[in-house]
Amino acid sequence: MQDIRSVLRDTKPGASITAKGWVRTRRDTKNAVFVELNDGSCFNGLQCVFDAASLDDAARASLAQVSTGAAVAVAGVLVESPAAGQPVELKASGLTVYGPSPADSYPLQKKAHSFEFLREIAHLRPRTNSFGAVARVRNQMAFAVHSFFQERGFQYVHTPIITASDCEGAGEMFQVTTLDLDAIAKRGEPVDWTKDFFGKRAYLSVSGQLNVETYCMALGRVYTFGPTFRAENSNTPRHLSEFWMIEPEMAFAELPENMDLAEAFIKHLLSWALERCGDDLAFFDKRIQPGLIAMLDSVRSSTFAHMSYTDAVKELEARKDDFEFKPFWGCDLQTEHERYLTETVVKGPLIVTDYPRDLKAFYMRRNDDGETVRAMDVLVPRIGEIIGGSEREYRHDVLLDAMKDKHLDPASYWWYLDLRRYGSAPHSGFGLGFERLMRYVTGMENIRDVIPFPRAPKQADF
Ligand code: 4AD
Ligand code: MG
Repeated sequence: MQDIRSVLRDTKPGASITAKGWVRTRRDTKNAVFVELNDGSCFNGLQCVFDAASLDDAARASLAQVSTGAAVAVAGVLVESPAAGQPVELKASGLTVYGPSPADSYPLQKKAHSFEFLREIAHLRPRTNSFGAVARVRNQMAFAVHSFFQERGFQYVHTPIITASDCEGAGEMFQVTTLDLDAIAKRGEPVDWTKDFFGKRAYLSVSGQLNVETYCMALGRVYTFGPTFRAENSNTPRHLSEFWMIEPEMAFAELPENMDLAEAFIKHLLSWALERCGDDLAFFDKRIQPGLIAMLDSVRSSTFAHMSYTDAVKELEARKDDFEFKPFWGCDLQTEHERYLTETVVKGPLIVTDYPRDLKAFYMRRNDDGETVRAMDVLVPRIGEIIGGSEREYRHDVLLDAMKDKHLDPASYWWYLDLRRYGSAPHSGFGLGFERLMRYVTGMENIRDVIPFPRAPKQADF
């Protein structure tokens, strides 16, 4: 069976074909019924024309069941379309209705629906233009991630989802347990975690970085790409409780090389989208974010700006009345600050480096000033932070000191410290939030609309 994408792209008029898919719209005129069929293989559907005069009783009976949402097969001959809007159409002769879709109850009618409403029917929303396009772009972006790293000799490492260590040290982890906590509470006993499944407390991973670093110190250039989990109570258009992250790690690389990799990576992803997702991006450009394609195109040929955290704070302090949260040296950059820097100051992607060490995770390499670390955040217009990364602290004693500083128990990171005992080397890496990238590339406003089944506080339906 051919999908509609290949029919529209490759099939010559005159060919007999059968197309299968879901009905988007049905329009009846005096002499014909026009059915737009979409199978998800591409943005455009195939217009199928049923000529009323030439239909037999069986086909006419089946046609009665054709309404928006129905799953059907249409057989016929592909012809050049006399009407504007599509180059070819299917002159239908046969029709099979696999599954009708009663119009009085099917929630997706022809009219436009709000994204809020569509989130409530996440099982049906992939059948809309917007979510079909998001799904196809997401697929291409995942492919582009692997193509980028594979072409550059990075090896894909599968890091665990269940872990006993908190990579970011922020304590925002979901606990995993098989203990019957209710029963223990009823007996009035304290919880004995040594009786839990793993013999100690376990969590869903917030990042694969610590694990991927071990493979970095053996294979040199590696990356992981998987789901990560954060139990932060952030109900925003930019946070998810479950999101996908791409984390490369390079041995013998310092911060400048890390920044170059991040810039090349983002440009590769944007180019890939422009080259392979043309129809879907055209839709986003027209309906979601006007100017999207021109923006993506200009970023892929731009040079990312660089700024130290200290200079960034100076920029912000000069305009401090504009911000709800007043900036000062030592403050965590808020989204309003990040957006001002990238949208107004540099008007494009910006890499901010050398943050105060109190703001960042324990594993970042400490600068000689003792106060800042070799961190890098990549900020982009509209989104703010899209990448967070750093050069890693590879000096055992400095790392140990940083752990103590942050009240982490070195004993539970013994294997991570071992990497600094045996053959330690400078290395660097970063994490790209896949859904932040998806927001950037599609122009979609809410992060919950660029992942098939969003997980957020009080939201785990479907
Ligand atoms: O800055 P983060 O917390 O960095 C790390 O996890 C490092 N271990 C990465 C590394 O160096 N290997 O997260 C990295 C990125 C952020 O820049 C953001 O794009 C995304 O992950 N991110 C989220 N995306 C959606 N929802 C959330 N709650 C996110 N938290 C972080
Ligand atoms: Mg970060």
